[in-house]
Amino acid sequence: MNHDSELTYDCDPTLDDQGVIDFCKSGILKLEGVVSEEVNLRTIEFVEEHDGPEPRELLSEDWFVDGVIKNPQATGIIRSLLGKNFGLPISMANHRIITPSPSQEWHTDAGTKYAREVNYLQVFYLPQECTKEMGPTELLPGSHFLSSHRDAMKQMGRVRGSYYASAPAGSIFITYYGLWHRRSESSVSSLRNNLKYNYWRRTEPTRDWIVNPDFDVSTASFESPKPTYRPMWKDMYDTAELYFWLRGEIDKFGIIGGLGWPGNARSYGVPKDIQS
Ligand SMILES: [Fe+2]
Repeated sequence: MNHDSELTYDCDPTLDDQGVIDFCKSGILKLEGVVSEEVNLRTIEFVEEHDGPEPRELLSEDWFVDGVIKNPQATGIIRSLLGKNFGLPISMANHRIITPSPSQEWHTDAGTKYAREVNYLQVFYLPQECTKEMGPTELLPGSHFLSSHRDAMKQMGRVRGSYYASAPAGSIFITYYGLWHRRSESSVSSLRNNLKYNYWRRTEPTRDWIVNPDFDVSTASFESPKPTYRPMWKDMYDTAELYFWLRGEIDKFGIIGGLGWPGNARSYGVPKDIQS
């Protein structure tokens, strides 16, 4: 039996270069309310009956696999970032918590490999609305480019520029696995469910997402919103490097420095001999 073919999935990509670059910048893409109300309610019922931190049985339910795991909007993005025949989730965690509750400490999850590569994605599905008051997952945009000692990360408390993954029922967040995150503080009474699972790359990276003929790497913006917690322009260098890795052209990537590409003086340093 070929397990690989059973666990992989393919579909058309939905991101273009700008969408891929936007993901590279922040490590977060949000899809609001993309799962049907019927599947949301059925999921909540299911986790009530299978109360526990790992409701893996959900992955055997066709309605869940079709509505959530193979959700067309989500898989279009996942296909864009992980390539053809990407690996499907084989485990499922539910961050089911009674609120109000204090925030967690900032952390990266076990299994984070610090590298400018996208070989696996962390995905969150909210079967119910999660408001800011219910303590949504708090993520630090761009933190996949930052490394920190775990004990230093734990001390941080509030961080300016953090992103709260609050959203209506049926929303899916696609995130870079190594993003710094925590459960944020909650202030109202609720029983919050937040399902989390991973997808994997199974093919070499290549630029096979939607190619817009007007896109020009020499003029594209790689700049992230501030704060970036990096020296000036390092955010652009980091994003461009990750984007080139995803294109399968990391060997053609380089930064000349000074004001050259991807800075202001773009006639200098634009990578050469890349696919158009
Ligand atoms: Fe975590």
